[in-house]
Amino acid sequence: MPKVVVIYLSTSGNTKKMADAIAEGARSRNVDAETVNFHEARIEDIKAADAIAIGSSTFYYKMLPPMEKFIESLEKAKVADKVGAAFGSYGWSGEAPVMIAEKMRDLGMKVIDPVLRIQYEPTEKDIEECKRLGKDLAAKVKKTTEKPGSGSTKHEDAGVREVKMGEGGH
Ligand SMILES: Cc1cc2nc3c(=O)[nH]c(=O)nc-3n(C[C@H](O)[C@H](O)[C@H](O)COP(=O)(O)O)c2cc1C
Repeated sequence: MPKVVVIYLSTSGNTKKMADAIAEGARSRNVDAETVNFHEARIEDIKAADAIAIGSSTFYYKMLPPMEKFIESLEKAKVADKVGAAFGSYGWSGEAPVMIAEKMRDLGMKVIDPVLRIQYEPTEKDIEECKRLGKDLAAKVKKTTEKPGSGSTKHEDAGVREVKMGEGGH
C-alpha cells in the first residue's frame, strides 16, 4: 500500500489539526498515512514514504529555524522525486508553507500547488479542505507508484478524476 507521512510543527495545535485531517483524507483513499511531530520524525519512515506533507505555522514572517533545519536534513533521506505538500496555520502573513514548498522543490520533490494555509484554528470547512489535500496526495501517490500493466480498477480511475477536479480549490 502506498505510504504518506504528514510531518508538522505546531505550537498550540492548529497546524496539528490540519495534519491529522490531511492524514485522515489520505487514509480515506486507501493509502497508509501517519501524522508525526517533526521532533519525532524518523529518517527510515521518511525514506519509506511515497509522499511527504510538511506543515508549520508562521512565526515572525517565516517558519521556525528548527523546522528549516529539519527540512534541509531531508536530503539524507533521498526525498527527490517523492510527492510533497506544504501546509500550515497562520495569523496574518502566512509565509511558512510557501517557504516549505520552496525548500521541498529545492530537494527535487514534486510539490502540490498551491500550498494550504488556514488562518488560526481550522473550522469544520477548513478541516474538509485539509482532508481534500490528503485525498489529492493519495491520488498523486497512487499514480506514481502504480506499476505499468497492473490494471487499475474503474473505481480508482473515478477517484483520481474527482480529486483532480478538486486540486484547484485550495
Ligand atoms: C509570537 C508569535 C509570532 C507570530 N508571527 C506570525 C507572523 O509573522 N505571521 C503570521 O501569519 N502569523 C504569526 N503568528 C500567528 C500564528 O502563526 C498562529 O497563531 C497559528 O495559528 C499558530 O498555529 P500553531 O498552533 O499550529 O502553531 C504568530 C504568533 C505568535 C504567538
